Amino acid sequence: MAVERTFSILKPDATERNLTGAINALIEGAGLRIIAQKRMRITRAQAETFYAVHSARPFFGELVDFMISAPVVVQVLEGESAIAKYREIMGATDPAKAAAGTIRKVHAKSIGENSVHGSDAPDTAAREIAQFFSGNEIVG
Ligand code: CMP
Repeated sequence: MAVERTFSILKPDATERNLTGAINALIEGAGLRIIAQKRMRITRAQAETFYAVHSARPFFGELVDFMISAPVVVQVLEGESAIAKYREIMGATDPAKAAAGTIRKVHAKSIGENSVHGSDAPDTAAREIAQFFSGNEIVG
């Protein structure tokens, strides 16, 4: 196992319901360290770039509109196998299919308003971190 970094977003449905602390407690309780974090409103252009891989999907417009509808919290998480570990504690994209105790099972409202995003692979983690953080903002 190797120490990795992954990128996380606490989405608008989470910030609107004041769930930043509750979700961070689940992240830290799983042994992941939050080594960078900022609350921000992302622009439409940032959201379209971030989710470019989904641009042909029927839900793309809805996804972008949602991500700019309220503040988000962007984060860098560090730990052993952080990418897989965060995906495990987030649970399935659709909260109806997520395992008991996962962030999405506990907090998500729907497949679209699903509270959190986490990178799916090392290359995407590096790209997503670089979109939102400069090196001196990450303190491991
Ligand atoms: P995320 O992990 O951020 O990656 C892409 C997002 O698209 C996903 O979480 C969901 O929030 C969203 N998404 C996936 N499928 C659908 C869908 N069928 N309808 C609306 N949003 C979706």
